[in-house]
Amino acid sequence: MAFVVTDNCIQCKYTDCVDVCPVDCFYEGPNFLVIHPDECIDCALCEPECPAAAIYSEDELPDELQDFIELNTLLAEHWPNITERKDPLPEAEKWDGIENKLNKLEGMPND
Ligand code: SF4
Ligand code: F3S
Repeated sequence: MAFVVTDNCIQCKYTDCVDVCPVDCFYEGPNFLVIHPDECIDCALCEPECPAAAIYSEDELPDELQDFIELNTLLAEHWPNITERKDPLPEAEKWDGIENKLNKLEGMPND
């Protein structure tokens, strides 16, 4: 079991989550972060830190966000590790809460 970053992180990337992770298991793409499922120790510290409420425990993931389990697994193998918080994306406030941002996702391995 692991925690999963989902749709509302896209185009926001606040990175508050990174600051609290004791095992540094976040990986960073251009406009989204993912959690490496084999490295996450299920501590739950990151979930309440996300201003966009984009992080869920895998067993509490809503049906419409199930695809993000596979996406976190895939992208954590391709993107670099991030261990320190940084500024959110410039239009984070504008994008926070907009639904279905997956078509805005950048940095897919076959891009
Ligand atoms: Fe890191 Fe804990 Fe969040 Fe897993 S649940 S990503 S170990 S802070
Ligand atoms: Fe994304 Fe929330 Fe972390 S917006 S970068 S999951 S704090």
